[in-house]
Amino acid sequence: MSLSDEVLMARALRLAEACRQQCVMAPRTAVLVVRDGEVESEHLGVPNPEQAWANALAGGVEGATLVSPVAPPLGVQDQLMASAPARLVLGQGWRGVGRLELATEVLQQSCARLNPAAGLGRPLVRMKLAMSVDGRTALANGISKWITGEAARADVQNWRARSAALVTGVGTVLADDPRLTVRTGSAEVDGVRRQRIVLDSGFRTPATATLLQDAQGTVEIWGLESPPAGRPECRAVSPDADGRVSLAAVVSDLGDRGCQEILFECGAELAGAVLKSGLLDELVVYIAPKFLGHRGRALVILPDYAEVASEPEMVLADSRKVGEDIRLIFRSRDTTYG
Ligand SMILES: NC(=O)c1ccc[n+]([C@@H]2O[C@H](COP(=O)([O-])OP(=O)(O)OC[C@H]3O[C@@H](n4cnc5c(N)ncnc54)[C@H](OP(=O)(O)O)[C@@H]3O)[C@@H](O)[C@H]2O)c1
Repeated sequence: MSLSDEVLMARALRLAEACRQQCVMAPRTAVLVVRDGEVESEHLGVPNPEQAWANALAGGVEGATLVSPVAPPLGVQDQLMASAPARLVLGQGWRGVGRLELATEVLQQSCARLNPAAGLGRPLVRMKLAMSVDGRTALANGISKWITGEAARADVQNWRARSAALVTGVGTVLADDPRLTVRTGSAEVDGVRRQRIVLDSGFRTPATATLLQDAQGTVEIWGLESPPAGRPECRAVSPDADGRVSLAAVVSDLGDRGCQEILFECGAELAGAVLKSGLLDELVVYIAPKFLGHRGRALVILPDYAEVASEPEMVLADSRKVGEDIRLIFRSRDTTYG
C-alpha cells in the first residue's frame, strides 16, 4: 500500500520541525523523495530550503514524487524542472512550473504553523517572562536571581534557540549584564548566528557589557541619539509616536533580514511596551512557587486600565509543569498563527 500525501507530508513536517533551531533565518523545510510509494530519501533544509532541494535533486528524482511543506525556492526551479520528477506534494499553494503534476495545500495549517512568518507577513513575535506566584520579578532590593528553577531556565534556551533575534532593553543590560546567547548544549544549535538587539535610546549600554564581548557583529544597540564614536554596534533610528525606539521598526527590519521568530526577554518597562504594541503573537510566562513580596518589581508596566477587559486579548494555548515551575503559553486572539 502506498503512503497517502497526508502521511508523507506529516513525515516531512516532523523532519522539518527537527531543524527549527538550526534554521532561523529562512523557512524551515524538508524534502522527501518518494518512489513506488516508498520514501527513498529525506533531505533537511539546513541552513535553508535551497539546501534540501539541491540535495534531493542531486540524487536523481526522475519519475519520483517530491514532498515538501514549503514550495521550491525560485533558485532551484529550473534545476527541478530539468530533473523531471513526476509529481510534487506541497504544504503551500504554488502556481507551479511546466506540466508537473501538483498536489498543494496538503496539511496546510500544520505547514503554516511551522513557518509562521509567511502567514503573518513579518516575524513571529514572542516574549518570555518569569515571575513569582505573587506576580513579581525581583525583590524590592532588586535581587532577581534566580526566580525559576534549572529546568525552566533550560526550557528558555529552547525559545532562544528557535529565534533569529533576541531583543532586550537597556534596563536589563544595566541590571543583569546578560550574555543573551543560546546554551542548549548542542554545538549545531548554539553555533547558529543570531542577532542580539538592545533598545537603548541614549546608548547607555557600556562598551564593557558582557554581551558585547565576542559579539562578532551579532549585537546591535538601537537608540535615538547620535551613536557614540568608535561604537559600530550603535545605530540611530527614528522614534515612534511616543518618542521611543519603534518596536514596529525593529520587527519590520528583522523581517526584512529573513528572521522567522523574534524573542523579547526584557524587564517590566519594555515588556509593557511590547504588550501595548499590538505586535505580540505569543507570551510565555514561567511561574515559580515563590513569593517575592508586594514591594517587589512588577512583571510589566502598563497604564491604569478603567475596566478589566484589556489589550491585547490573549488566550491560553498551553500550560504545563516544567521542573518545579509552571509554564503558560498565551497567544494573541488576533494572531493568524497557531
Ligand atoms: N522576569 C523576567 O522575565 C525578566 C527578564 C528580563 C529582565 N528582568 C528584570 O527586569 C529588570 C529591568 O527592567 P527594566 O524595565 O528597567 O528594563 P527593560 O524593560 O529591559 O528596559 C527598559 C528600557 O528600554 C529602553 N527602551 C527603548 N525603547 C523602548 C520602548 N519602545 N519601550 C520601552 N522601553 C524602551 C528604555 O530606556 P531608554 O529610554 O534609555 O531607551 C527603557 O528604560 C531587571 O531587574 C531584570 O532582572 C526580568
